[in-house]
Amino acid sequence: MEEIIKVENLCKIFTLHVLRGKMITGCKNISFSLPRGAFLGLLGPSGVGKSTILKCIYRTYLPTSGFIRYLSPSCGEIDLARASDYQVLQVRQEMSYVAQFLRIIPRVPAIDIVAERLWQQGWAVEEGRQQAGEYLTRLGITRKLWDAYPVTFSGGEQQRINLARALITRPRLLLLDEPTASLDAENKRVVLNLLAELKSAGTSIIGIFHDLEAANQVVDNILVLESSLDWKK
Ligand SMILES: Nc1ncnc2c1ncn2[C@@H]1O[C@H](COP(=O)(O)OP(=O)(O)OP(=O)(O)O)[C@@H](O)[C@H]1O
Ligand SMILES: [Mg+2]
Repeated sequence: MEEIIKVENLCKIFTLHVLRGKMITGCKNISFSLPRGAFLGLLGPSGVGKSTILKCIYRTYLPTSGFIRYLSPSCGEIDLARASDYQVLQVRQEMSYVAQFLRIIPRVPAIDIVAERLWQQGWAVEEGRQQAGEYLTRLGITRKLWDAYPVTFSGGEQQRINLARALITRPRLLLLDEPTASLDAENKRVVLNLLAELKSAGTSIIGIFHDLEAANQVVDNILVLESSLDWKK
């Protein structure tokens, strides 16, 4: 397999048990592939299934049908639509996922949230914090805030904490759900530069954007998802 990810006919149907088994389409017949080291932008109207696709790749959601072929150094070529939970945990170490909506861990200082994944990889405590400080500085989070709990941070500050936490491990595959949505122009520029840097160091990236102008500055290819009328039946 040449590509790092190959998605074929991916479908996710939600069954709402509280609504007597009502079925809702998350995404339907999605196919694309991501060459190694490339950056793919996903665009499309709200509700079309963009976040669902990323969550299927990260396996927050178990796909209903289709294939997500992923080439992993630790597991070889695996199908994330069928991989065991154990395999998923293993390949997640090669990935970072930044969610659209921020889930902030209460009562953990910002700098520790950012350093946590380095510690999981065996970094020493102080070295992890130092590296976290460098990312926070680049992302414009002042030292004064490093020991504060991000639950009180502004939306844009929280988004930058989440990004710092995801980028710091220099993952093999990066999944971004609207990474620049709450950022002002200057911070947007900083984040897009960081993404370009990571990409030139070899990270493959799938990013959802609403802002075509931001997407165009960093992506190699764009997949526009369109809703069709029979979808929501
Ligand atoms: N956990 C879930 N349970 C039930 N339905 C869901 C779930 N997650 C997503 N959906 C449904 O799947 C469809 C696609 O949702 P998704 O969040 O993927 O859209 P999106 O393209 O990311 O939209 P937006 O641009 O607004 O973020 C929506 O109709 C949504 O209601
Ligand atoms: Mg979404």
